[in-house]
Amino acid sequence: MVEQIVILDFGSQYTQVIARRIRECNVYSVILPYNTPAREIAALKPRGLILSGGPSSVYAPDAPLPDRGLFQLGVPILGICFGVQLLAHYLGGKVERGQKREYGKGTLRVLDKSCALFEGLPSSLQVWNSHGDKLTRLPRGFAVVAASDNSDYAVIEQREKRFYGFQFHPEVAHTPRGREILSNFVHKICGCGKEWTMRNYIDQAVEDIRAQVGRGHVILGLSGGVDSSVAAALIHRAIGSQLTCIFVNNGLLRAREADVVRQVFGKHFQVKLQYEDATRLFLKRLKGVTDPERKRKIIGKTFIEVFQAATQRAGKADFLAQGTLYPDVIESVPISGNPAALIKSHHNVGGLPKRMKFKLVEPLRCLFKDEVRVLGLELGLPPEIVYRQPFPGPGLAVRCLGELTPKKLTILRQADAIVVEEMKASDWYYKLWQSFAVLLPCKSVGVMGDERTYDFTIAVRAVESQDGMTADWVKLPYELLEKVSNRIINEVSGVNRCVFDITSKPPGTIEWE
Ligand code: XMP
Repeated sequence: MVEQIVILDFGSQYTQVIARRIRECNVYSVILPYNTPAREIAALKPRGLILSGGPSSVYAPDAPLPDRGLFQLGVPILGICFGVQLLAHYLGGKVERGQKREYGKGTLRVLDKSCALFEGLPSSLQVWNSHGDKLTRLPRGFAVVAASDNSDYAVIEQREKRFYGFQFHPEVAHTPRGREILSNFVHKICGCGKEWTMRNYIDQAVEDIRAQVGRGHVILGLSGGVDSSVAAALIHRAIGSQLTCIFVNNGLLRAREADVVRQVFGKHFQVKLQYEDATRLFLKRLKGVTDPERKRKIIGKTFIEVFQAATQRAGKADFLAQGTLYPDVIESVPISGNPAALIKSHHNVGGLPKRMKFKLVEPLRCLFKDEVRVLGLELGLPPEIVYRQPFPGPGLAVRCLGELTPKKLTILRQADAIVVEEMKASDWYYKLWQSFAVLLPCKSVGVMGDERTYDFTIAVRAVESQDGMTADWVKLPYELLEKVSNRIINEVSGVNRCVFDITSKPPGTIEWE
């Protein structure tokens, strides 16, 4: 069994960040609900436990409290913020509402330099706090390791039992040396090695896929996006020609998208690739449709039909492969007042109908997106695919406002290709969440040479975001905007005006429809 750290989730918005940081230390980590019974945790043989932060107070009537048996498992425990209050609550300390709520940057003074958590670190550290309640009496047998401006007990330890508590968040970027502290916890205190790498993961995953699939056949819907591409490359590595990838061209793809997929998967990897050009069907069904939600519904439904027919043509298949990632499968229990619970995607494409009776192959189920990208590179996928910006399922349909026509789609595709090209040439593309062109559904007057023009407008959108749920528009240099605008207007016939979208999300959305 792979060495692992178990993180119990008490509803902090940072729980997944803790899990990612631990994995960046080359140690596998899993997130479990706060109320997972201690015997279930023991069965996983974790090398250590982390109790996440959370919005509650341990004294609230509906406080999320873990199984007391955790403290008898004999494994190291690190409690972060709410987690440290739990140590106090269960082990004889005291927590009170702080005089001053401590939010934001603070300075940690390490008083006991012999604590392994701070090995190799200076005695004064910038940390990020976010808590209201604070520890006012140490739990039994605990000692102080570090203090902050607002707390005498900012870091506490019970060295013999290997229990530790932090009143700050080591996992966030605002605690610049937090990674090293977590690394000390998993390596020096829990004694973990550095086995968790994507190179090792490939071997394990290949073995697992072979064991699951046997001599069966697998179908995979390849979209050209990061997840399905990496899943395809990995499954292909495991079972070669027992995998068939189906790529549906819905006529709403960007320039060269279908070519790249055919080039990379068909030619380079020699994956069995079934290319379904359904452009005409999609555009026929979308004719005259202007409402964004109807567009989405028609596209979703048509995709399922086309995909179903394609799987039948592909011959007998036993399994359907999907690029499901870890954040989609983390089991979360509702915790009252938990802000993270509200932050949920509003448009995960509904999936395939239940009547398509396949067993699922999901080799990325335990991976975070950043791991999937590393895995993709290890498998030999080009950076163009691995670091691709997200692209919505309904494609250019939600960027070509109003009714879709082949002519408008051609204009948008050309303009978008220029945006992407210039963003890549200026090194902005890979720094941003998304950057793309939108075609507005109205015309305006312009002048080109001596002639009056009456043509379409392209809006350029460039946003930064962590997860697509909120986003900021990016202050691109004027010179770059100028170049993009000049090129679009000069090179794309049918466009005489270019504007830049300066709306953040909220109140805007990232896509225009
Ligand atoms: P919005 O426009 O809601 O987009 O701010 C947030 C993120 O989701 C993507 N997006 C979609 N993805 N199907 C998808 O698979 C959709 O219908 C869809 N609509 C938006 C969008 O590109 C952004 O990254």
